[in-house]
Amino acid sequence: MSREIPSELIEEAVAAALRVREHAYAPYSKFHVGAALIDSNGGIHVGCNVENASYGLTNCAERAAVAAATSAGNRDIVMCVVVTETSPPAAPCGACRQVLSECDPTMRILTTNPQREDTWHMLADLLPHAFGPTSF
Ligand code: THU
Repeated sequence: MSREIPSELIEEAVAAALRVREHAYAPYSKFHVGAALIDSNGGIHVGCNVENASYGLTNCAERAAVAAATSAGNRDIVMCVVVTETSPPAAPCGACRQVLSECDPTMRILTTNPQREDTWHMLADLLPHAFGPTSF
């Protein structure tokens, strides 16, 4: 797939992120997050947030999706969709930006909510001067 992402694939990823958000385990924050990554072959990998009574063990949806993409064998990610319930939709946290950056710092990020208040970002704008594998 070229870096130009077909709009049908984007819609498929949004639908996948909306669906996986329903599986979020967030009994403490009650903040349910769904993420879907599109890889360079057009594959979609999803993740939701998973909280724990030991709060610091919480894993974000985006990092769960990176684990899924890695496990499926394709970490070359061209786009990340993040669905939250807030208006405006929430952007990925700093830890997730860092982990997404190691997949591909040029990826695009679409944040949205069930009302489809879509906001587009470039990961490089969300995480300028990133620390990466060539920084040391
Ligand atoms: N959360 C995510 O899943 N992704 C983010 O980028 C920010 C925060 C989750 C973690 C926690 O379960 C809840 O949202 C509230 O912080």
